[in-house]
Amino acid sequence: MHKSKIIERIKSKDAQIGVIGLGYVGLPLAVQTAKAGFTVLGFDVQKSKVDMVNKGQNYIGDVVGEELAKTVKDKKLSATTDYSKINRCDVVIICVPTPLDKYMQPDVTYIKNSADEIVKYRKKPSFIILESTTYPGTTEEILKPILENDGSRLGEDLFIAFSPERVDPGNEKYKTHNTPKVVGGCTHSCNEMGELFYGSILTGGVHTVSSPRIAEMEKLLENIFRLTNIGLVNELAMLCDRMNINIWEVIEAAKTKPYGFMPFYPGPGVGGHCIPIDPFYLTWKAKEYNFNSSLIEACGHINQVMPEYVAEKISRILNRNKKCISGSKILIAGIAYKRNIDDYRESPVLRIIDILEKQGASLVFADPHVEEFKNHDGDKIYKTTKMDRDLLSSVDIVVITTDHDAFNRAEIMEYSRLIYDTRNFIKENNSKVVRL
Ligand SMILES: NC(=O)c1ccc[n+]([C@@H]2O[C@H](COP(=O)([O-])OP(=O)(O)OC[C@H]3O[C@@H](n4cnc5c(N)ncnc54)[C@H](O)[C@@H]3O)[C@@H](O)[C@H]2O)c1
Repeated sequence: MHKSKIIERIKSKDAQIGVIGLGYVGLPLAVQTAKAGFTVLGFDVQKSKVDMVNKGQNYIGDVVGEELAKTVKDKKLSATTDYSKINRCDVVIICVPTPLDKYMQPDVTYIKNSADEIVKYRKKPSFIILESTTYPGTTEEILKPILENDGSRLGEDLFIAFSPERVDPGNEKYKTHNTPKVVGGCTHSCNEMGELFYGSILTGGVHTVSSPRIAEMEKLLENIFRLTNIGLVNELAMLCDRMNINIWEVIEAAKTKPYGFMPFYPGPGVGGHCIPIDPFYLTWKAKEYNFNSSLIEACGHINQVMPEYVAEKISRILNRNKKCISGSKILIAGIAYKRNIDDYRESPVLRIIDILEKQGASLVFADPHVEEFKNHDGDKIYKTTKMDRDLLSSVDIVVITTDHDAFNRAEIMEYSRLIYDTRNFIKENNSKVVRL
């Protein structure tokens, strides 16, 4: 009976939806859900974000500002810091951060804190979905027991599922609405609800699996697939450099194979809230099973040393030009961890900056998507400058760390003295360009 109540409310779109955590994942999801006709209440601990949402102001690149403004104006979307309002929500989706602590161990306190608040105010019956990336077992071992603390019984007045978020910030083709969704419910009814709910807000299709653990693991597989392939190509890039082979030309050639190969590209390391973090949720969990996931660790290590490799290479290039890092003026072009976005969380560029600064370089920064940023230790704020001819010609070397489309190739080529291109942004072969 409880089950059919939620199902009916989802079908009629009378269900109220709560989204906890209005960041890169939660805000696009909240807007998409409101656009689909549901009434959405977003929760965040940051009052500044809540205020912006309520004013219809956007702060996430992948959200269309006009769509956010319209859903707020139509009273389909609002936000609050007040958890007691969770008692209005039939469906609650948790999209809070899942970082690593300083010992590289999963920090699931954000999930626990959200669950502690949900259980205090939850409407009964309600359907709780976890979207934050995490290790297999979190939904059933952490979330479920907290939610059952008030005496609720799974399958009666409480329904739970894990459904990983797959958003790829900056991806022009695949957004929240057209990316297929995986749902792993704690029971068959939870899967039914998940399929119905996501099916009514997205066009990408819903794939249900037999348990939350499968869904948790499949998300990690996706990200580990990326981590290991990037690690592989970074290792080959370092070897190719020694062998004087152009890795980029090698990849272009390998790409012509119509099956069994998928291109990954080298770079200064990995960044963002996913690839440098999620795989280590699994390596940590694996230890509980006395299992050493050595391939993941090895690839993680390769990606981690890339910033040092890049700094070392800059030193060698300057040296060949009778300069040293200390005292050289270096333009770091790109702070974000990948092209055309403003996210610089875990960006490998911050490590490069840290190394170069400690060696006495005089650094300037350009990034059309990032106005200011905090350094690697988070205790200093830097501002970026507009990249123009004066800036380019005033530095000893330009290091292209992020291949933003907004950077002007021709201008960089014309006015720079030396270029170290870690992204193969400057396609041209020229004696002043060195590629990773
Ligand atoms: N960013 C991505 O590209 C991406 C892609 C797929 C999956 N994910 C996963 O999604 C999850 C969220 O990532 P994100 O990038 O959106 O993080 P984010 O930092 O952009 O957003 C998280 C939001 O949660 C809020 N928050 C923290 N604790 C809270 C609490 N107790 N109650 C309410 N709000 C709280 C924060 O203030 C923040 O606004 C993570 O598990 C991440 O691994 C992220």
